[in-house]
Amino acid sequence: MQKFWDSADTVSARTGETPVPTPPVRTAPVPTPARVFPAALKVGNVEIAPATVLAPMAGVTDTVFRRFIKNLGGCGLIMTEFTSADGVLRDQRVRGRYLHFYADEHPISAQLFGSSPSVLADAARLVEDLGFDLVDLNLGCPAKKVVKCNGGSGLLRDLPLIRQIFEAVRAAVKIPFTVKFRAGWNDDEIVCVELARMAESCGLGAVALHARTREQGYSGNARWEWIASVKQAVKIPVIGNGDIRSPEDACAIVARTGCDAVMIGRMAPANPWIFRQIEQYVVRVGTGASRVQSERSSAASDAAISKPYDEPTEADRYQMIRTYFQMLLEEEVPGAEGKMKQFASWFTHGVPGGAALRKAIYEAKSGEEILGRVEEFFDARLQAQAT
Ligand SMILES: Cc1cc2nc3c(=O)[nH]c(=O)nc-3n(C[C@H](O)[C@H](O)[C@H](O)COP(=O)(O)O)c2cc1C
Repeated sequence: MQKFWDSADTVSARTGETPVPTPPVRTAPVPTPARVFPAALKVGNVEIAPATVLAPMAGVTDTVFRRFIKNLGGCGLIMTEFTSADGVLRDQRVRGRYLHFYADEHPISAQLFGSSPSVLADAARLVEDLGFDLVDLNLGCPAKKVVKCNGGSGLLRDLPLIRQIFEAVRAAVKIPFTVKFRAGWNDDEIVCVELARMAESCGLGAVALHARTREQGYSGNARWEWIASVKQAVKIPVIGNGDIRSPEDACAIVARTGCDAVMIGRMAPANPWIFRQIEQYVVRVGTGASRVQSERSSAASDAAISKPYDEPTEADRYQMIRTYFQMLLEEEVPGAEGKMKQFASWFTHGVPGGAALRKAIYEAKSGEEILGRVEEFFDARLQAQAT
């Protein structure tokens, strides 16, 4: 099945990334939690609660998607998609498109990529002036276009330059500065521990590790053991990322690595309720930190535990797809129709008759027509169920 990120007008066109599969299902058993799921984390003076982060995703995490996820609940921090430091300084339109956000998105982090310390420092100042709560450096993007200019994961082979960037950006802004990186270029060049230590010594507020190498792309499993190694090496918060598909996975990555927060990418468009489900799971199953556990009502019965989190009903799915599409149309985001089509295949996943709806949506000629087809489909289904 075509995934939303296979589409030519999102990621591959912007970044040249090869299409990526859904996170692989982990087969290893989930161990008894060694660390309870943290209720919150602090990055500098910014409190992130709950300790969950929506991963930056090019072509996906625009203002509409970020607010949509935030409104569903359970997500502690949202981030922009990666944004060229050079581009935002040179072109007002790039700034408007990638760094625009609304007041209800706080706390929000802007992710930059580039390779020039002074350009990144200037772009970080701009990000601070625009009111972002944090600024993040991308050292993970595997796209050839980005790597060729030494940005994204290309920098992983030049630690001295990374140090210069860390120092320049840190000196340029007061807001917390974080970095998101892959473990290294390939299995022979794993630099994640060294990089995290350098980040800490340069005054960065947190690190996020996507536990794959650049060479790995999105293949194989994320190797969470690298997150554990980074966590053992530094005192600043460590955010674990890679292949979290469920609340069980979210608790397992914390248990196995000791990480301070989890970051979720590909599962968010497939299951936008995942953040809320993690919150419910932590409360109902009891892998939560004390603050969350103290909120656990005495009515949290065995019945609740046998249903550790709510699964969306068909009516929920309808409400969700309609809300998201309406938001896209209202915001008039560039490429709204294309985004609606991409997301439709995910949103209708598991809905009986979903294939027919997807076909109707792909044939539609405008955003309004797509919304109309969705409404027709679900209205008919829900009415049939009611009679
Ligand atoms: C469509 C798409 C776009 C992405 N864009 C970015 C990006 O702009 N910046 C970034 O740091 N990572 C980007 N990533 C990587 C994700 O943030 C995340 O690290 C990766 O998908 C692994 O997490 P997951 O297994 O939860 O998906 C992107 C991933 C996908 C699938």
